[in-house]
Amino acid sequence: MFHELVYQSIAAKDFTADDLKELMIQSRKYNKEKDITGCLVYHNRTFIQVIEGEKEEIDTLFRKIKVDTRHMKVTKSWESEIETRGFAGWSMSIMNINQHGLDKVFSNFLDTGEFSYDVSGILTTSKSILRSMKDNL
Ligand SMILES: Cc1cc2nc3c(=O)[nH]c(=O)nc-3n(C[C@H](O)[C@H](O)[C@H](O)COP(=O)(O)O)c2cc1C
Repeated sequence: MFHELVYQSIAAKDFTADDLKELMIQSRKYNKEKDITGCLVYHNRTFIQVIEGEKEEIDTLFRKIKVDTRHMKVTKSWESEIETRGFAGWSMSIMNINQHGLDKVFSNFLDTGEFSYDVSGILTTSKSILRSMKDNL
């Protein structure tokens, strides 16, 4: 079993492509070492990130992420045990939505940060959006 955690946050400043790249290089190194996979989406100063791996590793990483001054209002929106990783092989990919031209499709979701849950309480929107983006890139 793995642990999966989704959160959103607000960037402390506008992130440039270079800022995102630096974050990605830093994250990939650590995540590879700790067998953590996931995906980080950036749009209009909003971050949404999924991280998955051993529970202890996810807790440790999320503790570090929460106190990172590069962003604020770090809000966990979902966490659960999972049997299979949704982002196997992805030590951390960062999608800059503005850059990929996906902003029209996803801006409402990303701007409002609204998540929807299905009847069983499973968070569907954010995970399915992140996964469909992964499949489309
Ligand atoms: C939006 C955002 C996402 C991040 N994602 C990761 C990540 O997936 N993996 C990682 O190692 N660091 C990530 N970081 C960086 C951590 O917050 C932190 O800087 C890093 O773990 C080093 O912490 P340390 O100096 O306390 O060891 C992220 C930072 C931000 C702002």
